[in-house]
This record gives sequence, C-alpha cells and structure tokens, in this order.
Amino acid sequence: MDRIAIMGGARLQGEIPISGAKNSAIKLMAASLLTDEPLRLTNMPRLADTRFLGRLLQRLGTEVVESAGPDGAETLLTTREIMSGFAPYDLVRQMRASFNVLGPLLARTGQAKVSLPGGCTIGARPVDLHLKALEALGARIDLHEGYVYAQAPGGLRGGEIEFPFVSVGATEHALLAAVLARGATVLRNSAQEPEITDLADCLNKMGAKVEGAGTATIRVQGVERLTGASHAVLPDRIETGTYALAAAMAGGEVRLTRTRSDFIEALIVKMREAGVEVTPHPDGLTVKRNGGRLKAVELETDPFPGFATDLQAQFMALMTLADGESVIRETIFENRFMHAPELGRLGADISVHGGEARVRGVETLEGAQVMATDLRASVSLVIAGLAARGETVVNRVYHLDRGFERLEEKLGACGADIRRIKGDAGEDD
Ligand code: UD1
Repeated sequence: MDRIAIMGGARLQGEIPISGAKNSAIKLMAASLLTDEPLRLTNMPRLADTRFLGRLLQRLGTEVVESAGPDGAETLLTTREIMSGFAPYDLVRQMRASFNVLGPLLARTGQAKVSLPGGCTIGARPVDLHLKALEALGARIDLHEGYVYAQAPGGLRGGEIEFPFVSVGATEHALLAAVLARGATVLRNSAQEPEITDLADCLNKMGAKVEGAGTATIRVQGVERLTGASHAVLPDRIETGTYALAAAMAGGEVRLTRTRSDFIEALIVKMREAGVEVTPHPDGLTVKRNGGRLKAVELETDPFPGFATDLQAQFMALMTLADGESVIRETIFENRFMHAPELGRLGADISVHGGEARVRGVETLEGAQVMATDLRASVSLVIAGLAARGETVVNRVYHLDRGFERLEEKLGACGADIRRIKGDAGEDD
C-alpha cells in the first residue's frame, strides 16, 4: 500500500484551491436516487469515497458519468429506474455513508434491504436515530442477520421527529426520506452543519419544499415527485481547516481559495488564540505565521457551529509544539484520540484520559514511521511531519485518499517536501 513521506522543515508559501466537500458530495449523490431525471453535480471532489458511492449507486440502477467541467469536476447521475434495492454488507461496511441510500430507496420504491454499517475505528457509531426517523415517517423496519429490511408499501408519510441529540447523518437521512413523504414533516434538534443546508438547497432545486435547514428546526412539505437539477457542491470546510492548520504548523503564508472562512469560525478563534494570523477574504482566507512559539489553548469539539470533531486531530498536531499545556476535549466520538500515540512516536507529549487529551508542548518533533488509523487522524500526522526534523513516513495512506484530493500536489505546490511512495500490490502495511 502507498505511503507518504515528508521531509520536515520547509515553510509553506502560496495558494491552495479548496475542493468540494466530501461529506456533502456523498449525500448529494444519494439524493439522485429520488428522481428519474439527471442530477448534475459540479465542484465534485474526486476521492475514493465518491468513487465508491458511485459504484454502489450503479448497482442500484444509477447511470454515473464523470467529466471535467468549467467549474471543476462534474458528475451526472441518472436513475431512470431503481434496478435493485439491495445494498450489501461489503459495500456499506467500507463506507458508512453508503447507509444513507436506505431513505431514498424507501421513499422512491417503498422497500429496501441495506446492510447495517457496523462499528468503526472512531467509535460504535450506531444508526438507531436514522431508523427511528424512518419509522416516524411510517416505515416498517426489521433487522435480520445484520440487514435492515425496510418497507413502506403505501409510501412514506410526514411525521414529527425530535432527535435526542444532534446527528448529522440522521438529520440528512430524515431529510432525504421526508421530501417524498405524503404531508408535512418537522425535524427538531436537527444538525446545523453547512452540509445539511447544501443538501436542502439541492433538494429544493429538485422541487422539494424544505425550510429551516441550518437551524435546529427543519420543516418539509412532501411532494409527489422530484425533478433533475444542477448543483455546485459547497467547499470542504474540513479540507479548508486542515490546510489552515498545516500552514500554521509549517510557518509561512498560505492563501486558501474557492472556500469560505465563515464555515470554520470556531477554528479561526482558536488559531488566533494560539498566535496564528488569519485574514478572511471573500474567496477564502490567508493564514500566516512567522517565527515565534505558538501558545497552548483549550478547546472542546461540538456540533456546528462549534469546533468540528473532524479538525480535532489536526489541531492537536499543532498544539504538540505550543508553549504550555493544551487541553482538548472530544465530545462527539468516544474513541477519537488514536492519533495521540502516533504523534507520540514523533516526540509529542500527550496523555489521554477518557474524552480528554492533555498536550504538553515540546520544542521539536522528530520524523519517524507512523500509522494512519482514520481519515482525519492520518492528515494530522502529515501536518506534524511538516514541522518535524527529518523524514516522517505515514503508512496506510488509503485513509487519506478517502477524503483529501491531491494532498501531496496541493502541499507540494506551496513548497512542502512531500512525496508518495507507491506500495507493491498486495503488500500489507
Ligand atoms: C458525520 C460526518 C463526520 C463527522 C460527524 C460529526 C459524514 C459522512 N461524516 O458523521 O465526518 O465527524 O458527522 O460532525 O458526513 N449517533 C448515534 N446514533 C445514530 C447516529 C449517530 O448514537 O443513529 C452518534 C454517533 O455515534 C456520534 C454522534 O451521534 O457519537 C454524532 O454522530 P453523527 O453526527 O451522526 O455523525 P455522522 O453523520 O456519522
């Protein structure tokens, strides 16, 4: 398998264009199951996860055509007919978000059989809220041998759903099903992430009636059918935050373009507290750090607009070199500090107790072999490698390829000494 090697010490200087958001793109792709007309998505990131979902959709009956458009990569998805309502274990296990095809399949055809995703490295990640939401819309759900058998023979009907806590995936899933349900649906305590608003915008272009996305209460008036539409995927706020932190770690000045600073306000507050200069502009933001030691800060992850759990590992990498002790609390996922021991291999001083990590800043990190454990953890190791003395080699790069488009190219263009080492086929790292 591929590895990424980074020779630390180079300052970053230049511009990085941000791609379309992975977490939005995969839900928008699932929305194409709701109509027999073409859904054209522009500003599409080309990632292992989008390719993967494309393959699952093809099995379900979607024609997927990728092309290069004037506004970045495009994907045209047309599901004239659902050929199969079956999403098998091996496909759903590999990418949890595949589970989100359940709602659209049910809404369009009244039945589906979709594998439960199972746990993952960052926690148990159950789907009970997804299933309760579908039941509130009139679905009959049975679980057998790891599969969800869902039925709504007379079609879904609107309902009241109050989420006991905020879930991005369950909010999106309820939305994807409610748009074609008969009557009105109200979703309370909904997630407010920008990806929810993006999905609602796209669904509305397809003829849905969704109001209140981006707030805790979303109202949906079901419609009989949806049409095709054209929609540009919103910029990836996690990629934006990741490169902002990479620039802060390596030092220098990097302009992030084709993105939005208001998506990462909680991060910007913490970066400034740490002593990094961040200047928003209409097309994104510029991050600058010249010499001087970073200050330790305290933070807690929270649902949007709070500090994103998907940026926690990257921020921890930055704090490994800060002056003093920073405290990082993870409140979304129960097992999301697996990067801590790997950062420790580079010389970081981190102790973890339950959902809290204490990072005592050190003067320098030293390059080493490290192992990526999940998508965001792996990029935190790349960030640490940018500032470590000598060479850092990140193994299991397939995690990175799931969510970061052309990472080496983007960082390399700003002066980072980073390269991919191709692995032998079948090699087990
Ligand atoms: C999405 C993002 C992920 C991000 C996360 C939180 C995608 C593809 N992934 O994941 O990158 O880290 O939001 O911002 O968009 N939970 C339950 N039962 C459920 C659903 C969730 O207990 O039915 C729990 C989860 O285990 C977790 C918490 O709720 O502890 C929040 O998870 P959720 O917001 O649903 O995350 P995802 O949608 O899986």
